[in-house]
Amino acid sequence: MNEKIIEIIQPDDWHTHLREGDILKTVLKFSSRINNRCIAMPNLHNPITSSSLAIKYIHEIKKNFTSKEFTPLIPFYLTDNMDLIDFDKGLKNEIFVGAKLYPQNSTNNSSNGVTKLENIFPALEILEKRDKVLLIHGEKVDKNIDIFDREKYFIDDELTNIRKKFSNLRIVLEHVSSKYGADFVAQNKKMGGTITPQHMLLTKKDIYFNDVIDPFSYCMPIVKEEEDLICLRKYACSGHENFFLGTDSAPHDIKNKNLNGIVKPGIFTSPASLELYAEIFDQENSINKLETFSSINGPNFYNLPLNTNKIKIAKKSWYLEEFTQENNIKIKNFFGGKKLNWKVIQ
Ligand code: DOR
Ligand code: ZN
Repeated sequence: MNEKIIEIIQPDDWHTHLREGDILKTVLKFSSRINNRCIAMPNLHNPITSSSLAIKYIHEIKKNFTSKEFTPLIPFYLTDNMDLIDFDKGLKNEIFVGAKLYPQNSTNNSSNGVTKLENIFPALEILEKRDKVLLIHGEKVDKNIDIFDREKYFIDDELTNIRKKFSNLRIVLEHVSSKYGADFVAQNKKMGGTITPQHMLLTKKDIYFNDVIDPFSYCMPIVKEEEDLICLRKYACSGHENFFLGTDSAPHDIKNKNLNGIVKPGIFTSPASLELYAEIFDQENSINKLETFSSINGPNFYNLPLNTNKIKIAKKSWYLEEFTQENNIKIKNFFGGKKLNWKVIQ
């Protein structure tokens, strides 16, 4: 039987974690394997809160790949006490693609994140004026809010206000995880939403074993109900222009994934990212919409040109290795040890 092969415009990953040091060395080849551009998130141990830190980080990334063209895009990490002059200059000089809002303590390395949204209103004005993008980790963290409801509360209590107050600002609700969030993205102007593979493959039933969460299926926002998964698949596979590819691939060395009972959120998808999306789109009989999601909607939202290269993906089975292991680092691959039915062939 002839293999089915599709050809699409080269994708970009609008949300990924490349990390730094040895992990960066280990994971970068996966992102640059298929993507032309990647948004590399700024929640490093020392978060990217200035132009000079961003420039240093871009150099570190570029030093670690050799052959292919690849462009890392860095968002500024917003804080309560940020330097607005440096921020404005960094946006003007295209050092930053936009700015990332982490509510304080909402995820990894977010202890320097924003405590009250009013504190960053001056920064949002600058972003709006410069027509750059606000990227949001949209979860409200409060001891009285259930972990599964954090996205909804963030939308109701915070995002709705920002949307109204800064009506020309382009905003991305990152890693949309619920029907509530996806409908909000679809129904509002100048809103984008990235969707990860895991939020279209897992529900909360898949991640608990005897009431204990599987650390390798644990991410923030946490995966939710079947109704949410179905809704995310519907928007992604319809080609709706507000939704685009963002893996949130978030590698952690297995040594650090579960430290003294504290599990770090993050799922490592970049070794098979486009293949996982292809699997999902094929299951939904929508493989013809993959390119819109992976390679067209994102650049259009970010006002960037479409990539000119093409890549081919073949429908053929292969097994993904269980782990990525190099440079003294060992990371569990999402879907590791399992069969995939699509493979990027060039
Ligand atoms: O699961 C996650 N991991 N969600 C995030 O928002 C951050 C990320 C990380 O940095 O590991
Ligand atoms: Zn992330």
